[in-house]
Amino acid sequence: MTEIRQITKDEAYNACAPDDFPAMMDVDRYGNRSSAFDKIISATHDHFWDPLDTKYIDFAEPFDTETQMIMPEEMIPEFRLPCFQALSEKDKVRFANETARWSLSAILHGEQGALNLSASLCHILLDPGAQEYAANQTREEARHVTAFAKYVETRFGKPLPVGDTLGALLTDIVNAPEVYKKIVGMQMLVEGLAMGAFATLYTGSNDPLLVKLTQLVMTDEAFHHKFGKIWADRTIPSLSEEEQNIIEDWAAHCFQTLLFNLVNPEQKKVIYPQFGLDWETVQAEMLEAFTDDDRREQMKEGTNIFRVLIKTLLKAGIITDRTKDFYSTYVDMDELKNEGDRMIGDDIAEDGIKYLKTINFSTNEDALSGLSAAE
Ligand SMILES: [Fe+2]
Ligand SMILES: [Fe+2]
Repeated sequence: MTEIRQITKDEAYNACAPDDFPAMMDVDRYGNRSSAFDKIISATHDHFWDPLDTKYIDFAEPFDTETQMIMPEEMIPEFRLPCFQALSEKDKVRFANETARWSLSAILHGEQGALNLSASLCHILLDPGAQEYAANQTREEARHVTAFAKYVETRFGKPLPVGDTLGALLTDIVNAPEVYKKIVGMQMLVEGLAMGAFATLYTGSNDPLLVKLTQLVMTDEAFHHKFGKIWADRTIPSLSEEEQNIIEDWAAHCFQTLLFNLVNPEQKKVIYPQFGLDWETVQAEMLEAFTDDDRREQMKEGTNIFRVLIKTLLKAGIITDRTKDFYSTYVDMDELKNEGDRMIGDDIAEDGIKYLKTINFSTNEDALSGLSAAE
């Protein structure tokens, strides 16, 4: 049996092996509850929403995918490549929307990963407060799976299969028994990436239904990201050099996987053949067209999803002089360091929560009738 190496600096993250249920029934455990997550758990009622209730979101809202692009043309890098110049206007719209389908399918798989990951935290975290937080996140991720599955179905029919790289990373972190791998991989990186991606979709999409959906999801995700931050605040400052290196290397590994492969044409290969193209040609032209300088330029935009990730890691102390150079190829680290703590998407999430409060607390009649129906 391989030994599990937990790196625990705060009792709230004490963990057992995933199959050790007897450890959960230890009578001393129940009373040993951290209050660190109580605020996040209680706040869940403020931002409650139900993807199947038209009071919150109506998936019947129409959008003509034959004639309109879900994401604007300038946000699709392929359109700058020579091999895309011959596409008819109609095919351009079709390609743009297949790209949107691919991205939203990846988000759907990511949400499923987040659901299973939070559920897996329930199996290993011993602190009842941390466990309640994880159970609560599981419940929220479940509604994201419902919501994105419904969006993909409404606009495209079936989701596309997960790209190899994202699929492998999600499987890795869901199955990992180590708390730090799960929290760094999911709450800090995948969730950070998702916040960036949602902010991009929210600001850029032509589809009002997607704008609404991303905002609702962000009201939840902002809290998941906070859970990662609480872990980092309570863990990173107490690490030994060796432990710090392990966590930094894990973060860099996850970051690199997401950066180099998530936007790599090979990962999207299922969508090219119907346009008479193959991923190798697209890849070759992409390498020619985009240099590191182009990437750096793109990352200056606050919503650039990878910039959000680097900022998350930097603020959490997971990037030090040892690994700084790896990231500084893409962003100006000093500039990032001097920026405030607010994350991209925080404002969008806050507006969303205000909106949800008006729905959730403006009338109690619905809740009362719901109660009597349940009697
Ligand atoms: Fe989610
Ligand atoms: Fe999440």
